[in-house]
Amino acid sequence: MARILITTGPTREYLDPVRFISNASSGKMGAALIAAAQLRGHETIVVSGPVRIEYPAATKLIWVNTTDEMLQACEQHFPDCDGLIGAAAPCDYRASEIANHKIRKTGEPLQLTLVETPDIVASLGKRKRRDQWTVGFALETEDAHFRAITKLQQKSCDLVVLNGPQAIDADENSIQIINATGHIVAAHQGPKIDLAHQIIKVIESQLISAQL
Ligand code: C5P
Repeated sequence: MARILITTGPTREYLDPVRFISNASSGKMGAALIAAAQLRGHETIVVSGPVRIEYPAATKLIWVNTTDEMLQACEQHFPDCDGLIGAAAPCDYRASEIANHKIRKTGEPLQLTLVETPDIVASLGKRKRRDQWTVGFALETEDAHFRAITKLQQKSCDLVVLNGPQAIDADENSIQIINATGHIVAAHQGPKIDLAHQIIKVIESQLISAQL
Protein backbone atom coordinates (compact mmCIF):
# COMPACT_ATOMS: atom_id res chain seq x y z
CA MET A 1 0.00 0.00 0.00
CA ALA A 2 1.23 3.49 -0.84
CA ARG A 3 0.30 6.95 0.35
CA ILE A 4 -0.28 8.94 -2.83
CA LEU A 5 -0.55 12.71 -3.21
CA ILE A 6 -2.86 13.60 -6.12
CA THR A 7 -3.24 17.09 -7.59
CA THR A 8 -6.41 17.63 -9.59
CA GLY A 9 -8.59 20.29 -11.22
CA PRO A 10 -7.63 23.74 -12.50
CA THR A 11 -6.27 26.66 -10.51
CA ARG A 12 -7.52 30.26 -10.63
CA GLU A 13 -5.36 33.33 -10.87
CA TYR A 14 -7.26 36.50 -9.98
CA LEU A 15 -6.93 39.74 -11.96
CA ASP A 16 -9.18 41.70 -9.60
CA PRO A 17 -11.62 40.72 -6.81
CA VAL A 18 -14.08 39.09 -9.24
CA ARG A 19 -12.19 38.05 -12.38
CA PHE A 20 -9.70 35.28 -12.87
CA ILE A 21 -7.72 33.30 -15.46
CA SER A 22 -8.37 29.55 -15.41
CA ASN A 23 -9.04 26.58 -17.71
CA ALA A 24 -11.73 23.96 -18.33
CA SER A 25 -10.16 21.14 -16.31
CA SER A 26 -13.04 19.24 -14.67
CA GLY A 27 -11.20 17.11 -12.10
CA LYS A 28 -12.67 13.94 -13.71
CA MET A 29 -9.28 12.27 -14.22
CA GLY A 30 -8.31 13.16 -10.65
CA ALA A 31 -11.57 11.71 -9.33
CA ALA A 32 -10.98 8.50 -11.32
CA LEU A 33 -7.42 8.24 -9.98
CA ILE A 34 -8.60 8.71 -6.37
CA ALA A 35 -11.26 5.99 -6.84
CA ALA A 36 -8.86 3.56 -8.54
CA ALA A 37 -6.04 4.13 -6.04
CA GLN A 38 -8.37 3.57 -3.08
CA LEU A 39 -9.98 0.47 -4.60
CA ARG A 40 -6.49 -0.94 -5.03
CA GLY A 41 -5.73 -0.34 -1.35
CA HIS A 42 -3.78 2.92 -1.43
CA GLU A 43 -4.23 6.02 0.68
CA THR A 44 -4.89 9.29 -1.15
CA ILE A 45 -4.11 12.86 -0.11
CA VAL A 46 -5.85 15.15 -2.59
CA VAL A 47 -5.09 18.79 -3.42
CA SER A 48 -7.74 20.22 -5.73
CA GLY A 49 -8.51 23.48 -7.43
CA PRO A 50 -12.16 24.59 -7.78
CA VAL A 51 -14.31 21.93 -9.51
CA ARG A 52 -18.01 21.01 -9.48
CA ILE A 53 -17.66 17.23 -9.33
CA GLU A 54 -17.70 15.32 -6.07
CA TYR A 55 -14.54 13.40 -5.28
CA PRO A 56 -14.61 9.95 -3.70
CA ALA A 57 -13.84 10.25 0.03
CA ALA A 58 -10.06 10.64 0.28
CA THR A 59 -7.92 10.38 3.39
CA LYS A 60 -7.47 14.12 3.14
CA LEU A 61 -8.93 16.65 0.68
CA ILE A 62 -7.43 20.14 0.56
CA TRP A 63 -9.14 22.82 -1.55
CA VAL A 64 -7.00 25.57 -3.09
CA ASN A 65 -7.51 28.40 -5.56
CA THR A 66 -4.16 29.48 -6.93
CA THR A 67 -1.12 27.61 -8.24
CA ASP A 68 0.93 29.04 -5.36
CA GLU A 69 -1.58 27.68 -2.85
CA MET A 70 -1.52 24.28 -4.62
CA LEU A 71 2.28 24.22 -4.36
CA GLN A 72 2.19 25.19 -0.68
CA ALA A 73 -0.31 22.42 0.17
CA CYS A 74 1.74 19.88 -1.82
CA GLU A 75 4.99 20.94 -0.15
CA GLN A 76 3.32 20.44 3.21
CA HIS A 77 2.02 16.93 2.47
CA PHE A 78 4.53 15.42 0.00
CA PRO A 79 7.13 14.58 2.69
CA ASP A 80 4.58 12.16 4.27
CA CYS A 81 3.72 10.54 0.91
CA ASP A 82 5.38 7.83 -1.19
CA GLY A 83 4.61 9.53 -4.47
CA LEU A 84 2.80 12.23 -6.41
CA ILE A 85 0.41 12.02 -9.34
CA GLY A 86 0.15 15.49 -10.92
CA ALA A 87 -3.24 15.32 -12.63
CA ALA A 88 -4.07 19.00 -12.05
CA ALA A 89 -4.03 21.67 -14.74
CA PRO A 90 -2.52 24.56 -12.78
CA CYS A 91 -2.41 27.99 -14.46
CA ASP A 92 1.08 28.65 -15.79
CA TYR A 93 0.68 32.44 -15.42
CA ARG A 94 -0.71 34.88 -12.88
CA ALA A 95 -1.19 38.65 -12.99
CA SER A 96 1.93 40.50 -11.82
CA GLU A 97 -0.39 42.59 -9.64
CA ILE A 98 -3.97 41.86 -8.54
CA ALA A 99 -6.12 45.02 -8.75
CA ASN A 100 -7.72 45.93 -5.38
CA HIS A 101 -10.94 46.99 -7.09
CA LYS A 102 -12.88 45.70 -10.08
CA ILE A 103 -11.05 46.71 -13.29
CA ARG A 104 -13.27 49.29 -15.09
CA LYS A 105 -13.66 49.70 -18.85
CA THR A 106 -11.89 52.77 -20.23
CA GLY A 107 -12.57 52.44 -23.97
CA GLU A 108 -8.86 51.70 -24.44
CA PRO A 109 -7.18 48.28 -24.86
CA LEU A 110 -6.31 46.72 -21.51
CA GLN A 111 -2.77 45.44 -21.09
CA LEU A 112 -2.07 42.80 -18.49
CA THR A 113 1.37 41.73 -17.35
CA LEU A 114 1.48 38.04 -16.54
CA VAL A 115 4.31 36.28 -14.73
CA GLU A 116 5.01 32.54 -14.55
CA THR A 117 3.69 30.53 -11.63
CA PRO A 118 5.78 27.77 -10.06
CA ASP A 119 5.61 24.28 -11.60
CA ILE A 120 4.37 21.95 -8.86
CA VAL A 121 5.43 18.62 -10.38
CA ALA A 122 8.89 20.02 -11.23
CA SER A 123 9.35 21.58 -7.78
CA LEU A 124 8.49 18.35 -5.95
CA GLY A 125 10.39 16.23 -8.50
CA LYS A 126 13.57 18.21 -7.94
CA ARG A 127 13.47 17.69 -4.19
CA LYS A 128 12.03 14.17 -3.95
CA ARG A 129 13.79 11.62 -1.75
CA ARG A 130 15.25 8.49 -3.31
CA ASP A 131 12.29 6.50 -1.97
CA GLN A 132 9.72 8.86 -3.52
CA TRP A 133 8.36 8.95 -7.08
CA THR A 134 6.51 11.50 -9.21
CA VAL A 135 4.17 10.98 -12.16
CA GLY A 136 3.21 13.87 -14.44
CA PHE A 137 0.66 14.30 -17.21
CA ALA A 138 1.45 15.76 -20.63
CA LEU A 139 -1.29 17.10 -22.86
CA GLU A 140 0.25 17.61 -26.27
CA THR A 141 -1.09 18.64 -29.68
CA GLU A 142 2.02 18.03 -31.80
CA ASP A 143 5.34 16.10 -31.57
CA ALA A 144 3.56 14.39 -28.69
CA HIS A 145 6.06 11.62 -27.84
CA PHE A 146 9.13 13.89 -28.03
CA ARG A 147 7.46 16.66 -26.00
CA ALA A 148 6.23 14.21 -23.37
CA ILE A 149 9.75 12.82 -22.86
CA THR A 150 11.19 16.35 -22.69
CA LYS A 151 8.56 17.21 -20.06
CA LEU A 152 9.33 14.04 -18.12
CA GLN A 153 13.02 15.01 -17.99
CA GLN A 154 12.46 18.71 -17.24
CA LYS A 155 10.08 17.85 -14.40
CA SER A 156 12.20 14.93 -13.06
CA CYS A 157 9.24 12.52 -13.38
CA ASP A 158 9.50 8.73 -13.09
CA LEU A 159 6.56 8.25 -15.48
CA VAL A 160 4.57 10.58 -17.72
CA VAL A 161 1.00 10.00 -18.92
CA LEU A 162 0.62 11.39 -22.42
CA ASN A 163 -2.82 12.40 -23.68
CA GLY A 164 -4.36 14.80 -26.19
CA PRO A 165 -6.60 17.89 -25.98
CA GLN A 166 -9.72 15.71 -26.37
CA ALA A 167 -9.10 14.71 -22.72
CA ILE A 168 -10.36 18.00 -21.27
CA ASP A 169 -13.73 17.65 -19.52
CA ALA A 170 -14.32 14.32 -21.36
CA ASP A 171 -15.47 11.02 -19.83
CA GLU A 172 -13.20 8.98 -22.13
CA ASN A 173 -9.57 9.44 -23.07
CA SER A 174 -6.66 7.73 -24.74
CA ILE A 175 -3.27 7.59 -23.02
CA GLN A 176 0.27 6.34 -23.34
CA ILE A 177 2.36 5.82 -20.22
CA ILE A 178 6.05 6.58 -20.82
CA ASN A 179 8.87 5.64 -18.46
CA ALA A 180 12.06 7.52 -17.61
CA THR A 181 13.96 5.81 -20.45
CA GLY A 182 11.39 7.07 -22.96
CA HIS A 183 9.68 3.72 -23.55
CA ILE A 184 5.92 3.39 -23.84
CA VAL A 185 5.12 0.91 -21.08
CA ALA A 186 1.34 0.93 -21.61
CA ALA A 187 -1.25 2.39 -24.00
CA HIS A 188 -4.99 2.42 -23.36
CA GLN A 189 -8.20 4.00 -24.56
CA GLY A 190 -11.57 4.14 -22.79
CA PRO A 191 -13.46 5.57 -19.83
CA LYS A 192 -11.28 7.58 -17.44
CA ILE A 193 -11.96 5.15 -14.57
CA ASP A 194 -10.48 2.25 -16.64
CA LEU A 195 -7.48 4.39 -17.57
CA ALA A 196 -7.01 5.35 -13.91
CA HIS A 197 -6.84 1.65 -12.97
CA GLN A 198 -4.23 1.09 -15.71
CA ILE A 199 -2.18 4.07 -14.48
CA ILE A 200 -2.25 2.86 -10.86
CA LYS A 201 -1.34 -0.69 -11.99
CA VAL A 202 1.71 0.63 -13.89
CA ILE A 203 2.71 2.77 -10.88
CA GLU A 204 2.43 -0.33 -8.68
CA SER A 205 4.56 -2.50 -10.96
CA GLN A 206 7.16 0.09 -11.96
CA LEU A 207 7.44 2.36 -8.93
CA ILE A 208 5.83 0.97 -5.78
CA SER A 209 7.25 -2.55 -6.07
CA ALA A 210 10.67 -0.97 -6.71
CA GLN A 211 10.41 0.71 -3.28
CA LEU A 212 9.87 -2.58 -1.43
O1 C5P B 1 3.85 21.75 -18.88
P1 C5P B 1 2.48 21.15 -18.77
O2 C5P B 1 1.49 22.05 -18.05
O3 C5P B 1 1.93 20.61 -20.04
O4 C5P B 1 2.72 19.87 -17.84
C1 C5P B 1 1.67 19.11 -17.36
C2 C5P B 1 2.08 18.46 -16.05
O5 C5P B 1 2.70 19.42 -15.20
C3 C5P B 1 0.88 17.96 -15.31
O6 C5P B 1 1.28 16.82 -14.55
C4 C5P B 1 0.52 19.14 -14.41
O7 C5P B 1 -0.20 18.73 -13.26
C5 C5P B 1 1.89 19.68 -14.07
N1 C5P B 1 1.97 21.12 -13.81
C6 C5P B 1 2.29 21.56 -12.51
N2 C5P B 1 2.41 22.89 -12.24
C7 C5P B 1 2.21 23.81 -13.21
C8 C5P B 1 1.89 23.39 -14.53
C9 C5P B 1 1.77 22.03 -14.79
O8 C5P B 1 2.46 20.71 -11.63
N3 C5P B 1 2.33 25.11 -12.91
